[in-house]
Amino acid sequence: MRVAMIGTGYVGLVSGTCFSDFGHEVTCIDKDASKIERLKQGEIPIFEPGLEDLVRRNVAAGRLQFDTDLTQAVRSADVVFIAVGTPSRRGDGHADLSYVHAAAREIARTAEGFTVVVTKSTVPVGTGSDLEHIIAEAAPEADIAVVSNPEFLREGAAIEDFKRPDRVVIGTDDPRAREVMAALYRPLSLNAAPILFTERNTAELIKYAANAFLAMKITFINEMADLCEKVGGNVQEVARGIGLDGRIGSKFLHAGPGYGGSCFPKDTLALMRTAQEAGAPTRLIETVTTVNESRKAAMGRRVLEALDVPPRGATVAVLGLTFKPNTDDMRDSPAINIVQSLLDRGVKVRAFDPVGMAEARKVLPDSVEYASGPYECAEGADGLVIVTEWDAFRALDLDRLKQVLRSPIVVDLRNIYPPGDLISRGFKYVGIGRGHLTPAAP
Ligand SMILES: NC(=O)c1ccc[n+]([C@@H]2O[C@H](COP(=O)([O-])OP(=O)(O)OC[C@H]3O[C@@H](n4cnc5c(N)ncnc54)[C@H](O)[C@@H]3O)[C@@H](O)[C@H]2O)c1
Repeated sequence: MRVAMIGTGYVGLVSGTCFSDFGHEVTCIDKDASKIERLKQGEIPIFEPGLEDLVRRNVAAGRLQFDTDLTQAVRSADVVFIAVGTPSRRGDGHADLSYVHAAAREIARTAEGFTVVVTKSTVPVGTGSDLEHIIAEAAPEADIAVVSNPEFLREGAAIEDFKRPDRVVIGTDDPRAREVMAALYRPLSLNAAPILFTERNTAELIKYAANAFLAMKITFINEMADLCEKVGGNVQEVARGIGLDGRIGSKFLHAGPGYGGSCFPKDTLALMRTAQEAGAPTRLIETVTTVNESRKAAMGRRVLEALDVPPRGATVAVLGLTFKPNTDDMRDSPAINIVQSLLDRGVKVRAFDPVGMAEARKVLPDSVEYASGPYECAEGADGLVIVTEWDAFRALDLDRLKQVLRSPIVVDLRNIYPPGDLISRGFKYVGIGRGHLTPAAP
């Protein structure tokens, strides 16, 4: 089948490349000319494990192309995906649909013959119907069916998630569109991936409900961590103890600095707004967003409180900047709040991230210094905070670390170290939900 993918970001590039790997003919389109130019040169504009090889292979096989102009690809496409950004609209938290609407208008004016237009972007319930109106207005003669096919991939494991999804959700009540979508995803049935056909509104809601539920799970365990710190208890054992219950499940029960990233913050807000306006407020999710915001602010304070010296003029080493490991994505990363609150108190911040530093430079204040590795980052610092649980930070040489730090203080916001490993070496160790542990008195 012929596929046009409008928007070649984290979702569009992975989805387009995987579809081409299934044997479909795919053109990935983006307005960002430099992104397309880099892709044409064989360079991948984002960090996503395994993607470079997959792109190279499918380009070489002639199944994957890149373009800044959608005309040719959309004209011949059976399916056109919209995978553009839907960030939070400034001021009210609604999803900003301007990119989606603009893409739909362009598609309407260009498409020829029966074309299935699919929203892969995360869009509020009712967007599919709005797109139908926009398309009918822009091109009354166009023969287009609008389908919702939300994406659930996780950055850092995106290819595996796309090729072996827990489920594929397709929202449409158009039988022709259903047939096209079933054919498009047929290769996945070999992996026994359940394909769930629903009404379009339901598909749109499933995506928001999934993200809100996961954000709620994270926030729940974070509150349990706070409770453990007050009353004694180990949140990791609490998580294991509840997670082994099949009704609860063990995933997304890692206490940490609060959720961030390109999806949960904006999607919880958008769902909240939609629900408020519909007169069915999601009070749980309203609370989740508030709790998470205050948690992110509290993490900077936690680092400051751990220091043995006044913040002004102190140096803190920050390990990990991206919102999670195996991505270079800095969108709404908890590191942004933490770094800012340290800088606000006069702390000098020196940071290291295995792949996120180029993106970090775009969003963090210029006064942040960047190091070439974890030990260089820790050199002479008055304390170290682990913000992102990159594998590279899981087995640091603790004796070397103690030697290079001015004060042996580690704030481990991801609980990647057993406290005893650090305490026995004379570190002050602050984790999450495992009490504030300091070295035993000599
Ligand atoms: N990133 C994730 O992990 C993830 C997971 C599931 C769903 N989503 C959803 O997928 C959508 C895309 O997210 P993303 O992270 O890939 O965003 P992104 O910002 O990485 O990519 C979006 C791309 O669309 C391009 N674009 C915008 N308007 C365009 C137009 N009219 N024509 C061509 N290109 C255009 C931009 O230049 C950009 O490169 C969002 O709605 C997001 O919520 C993201």
